[in-house]
Amino acid sequence: PTVVFIDPQGSEHAIEAPEGRSLMQIAIDHGVPGILGDCGGVCSCATCHGYVDPAFAAQLPPRSETEVFMLEGVPDLRDNSRLCCQIRMQAALDGLRVQLPDEQV
Ligand code: FES
Repeated sequence: PTVVFIDPQGSEHAIEAPEGRSLMQIAIDHGVPGILGDCGGVCSCATCHGYVDPAFAAQLPPRSETEVFMLEGVPDLRDNSRLCCQIRMQAALDGLRVQLPDEQV
């Protein structure tokens, strides 16, 4: 499945991604600017914030309590804000677009 990251400068990065890998890991693997993933994906840093295409809301896992708590600290929180380490690529997410914010925490 393909995921498209839009970096803070507006450049699109379309990546053919393996199922089961988190969106954070996929972006880091490919050097996409605008995402850090400082905690390595355990939902404790919020430096993997992204705005996820609302069209896919029904296919996404719900935010855990920890994710909700961590998101409270990000600049410019929106309804479609997610931590990219908490979403794993799967076939149902083919074509997903993720906008990365102007700044991480
Ligand atoms: Fe740290 Fe996602 S990588 S919360």
